Amino acid sequence: MKKVLITGIFGQDGAFLAKRLLSQGFRVFGLARRGGSIKSDRLRYFGILDDVEIKNSEIIDFSSILKLLEEIKPDVIFNLAAQSFVQDSFINPWMTSNINYFGVLNLYEAIRFLKLDCKVYQASTSEMYGKTIDDVQTEKSPFNPQSPYGISKLAAHHLGVIYRETYKLKISNGILFNHESELRGREFVTRKITSQLVEVKNESRDFVLLGNLNAVRDWGYAADYVKAIEMMNFSEVNDDFVVATNNITSVREFFKKSAELLDFKPIFSGNNAEEICTDKKTNKVIMKIDKNYYRPLEVDYLRGDYSKINSTLGWKPETSVDEMIEKMVSFDLENYNKNIYFI
Ligand code: NAP
Ligand code: GDD
Repeated sequence: MKKVLITGIFGQDGAFLAKRLLSQGFRVFGLARRGGSIKSDRLRYFGILDDVEIKNSEIIDFSSILKLLEEIKPDVIFNLAAQSFVQDSFINPWMTSNINYFGVLNLYEAIRFLKLDCKVYQASTSEMYGKTIDDVQTEKSPFNPQSPYGISKLAAHHLGVIYRETYKLKISNGILFNHESELRGREFVTRKITSQLVEVKNESRDFVLLGNLNAVRDWGYAADYVKAIEMMNFSEVNDDFVVATNNITSVREFFKKSAELLDFKPIFSGNNAEEICTDKKTNKVIMKIDKNYYRPLEVDYLRGDYSKINSTLGWKPETSVDEMIEKMVSFDLENYNKNIYFI
């Protein structure tokens, strides 16, 4: 039975991935950092908490990760652990860099030291493109990160290329564009919108406070994207792949689509920080701008070209953004007031 190690197993992608791999009979180990409380809600939600083997380790401590790899000797590693919230990386740039870059360096050095013959997936990101100049981003587009998070991930991305070429480590970097789901953390804009609009509908919240409504993202569904991650790590190819849908939606459009599914009639008025959204049926304001949610630097536009992974591994997205919003809104409606928080 192949042994798989997932770092970041308690996050959105880690949970979807663990579920997929367990159903195929893999032995799944998960890295849990010491010190913090273990956020096992997603694994419990899928009913797989008892099926994964959780190991305490710390990716930012070389000796700790070395001992873990020596003990498990995994055949396949998915490195998903990260400080993944862009906004937070402006507040905690050092910790973000430490986890997202030095954690990866520790992992690669430990693999090299132990001479492990394992495949590694590294969670790279469209955030590395930052200020984009092309209409569509490919594996060859220039990187121009706009946050400490983007820089840390870009450094780790280049490190993977260097360790692949120099030391022949079997590393693939997946450049994943934004992907969301019912299991997405509520600090990210999509889940914030769907969960808070449900609260507005149920009159336990007056309105949703948002930042930049003009930001455009290529949003896909997380369950589709972990399939791409799995395909990369179980293929003989070690390379870099964009995973995206090639469809774009602005934050304003995402809000509008979500509100309409909840039977609001959203009408936007005003400009910039004065913009509001009113429900035409009731004349109530359901969205306002709060400048605190503006980023010090913004990534305005991301749109990915997934042709390389499609032609090399046969992956393509299966869920449209509209279907994904429906899933998220339905989930938040069904689970309103049930204290299900994926953080
Ligand atoms: P997520 O829900 O934030 O999960 C990240 C996980 O990393 C959390 O479970 C967290 O564990 C863990 N972690 C953080 N610091 C750690 C440390 N020092 N040691 C061990 N674990 C640590 O993120 P996600 O959406 O699943 O994304 C998975 C990966 O893909 C991340 O690397 C992210 O940067 C990258 N990515 C995500 C997207 C996206 O749109 N979702 C797009 C591109 C790339 P705790 O529970 O202990 O906090
Ligand atoms: N979080 C948040 N909250 N974002 C807001 C808000 C708000 O109230 N209002 C507007 N936005 C805008 C942000 O300024 C950004 O342009 C966009 O919505 C998306 O923000 P997030 O959902 O926080 O995601 P992100 O694009 O910054 O980062 C996510 O995707 C990356 C891939 O491109 C994360 O999952 C990263 O880990 C991932 O690498």
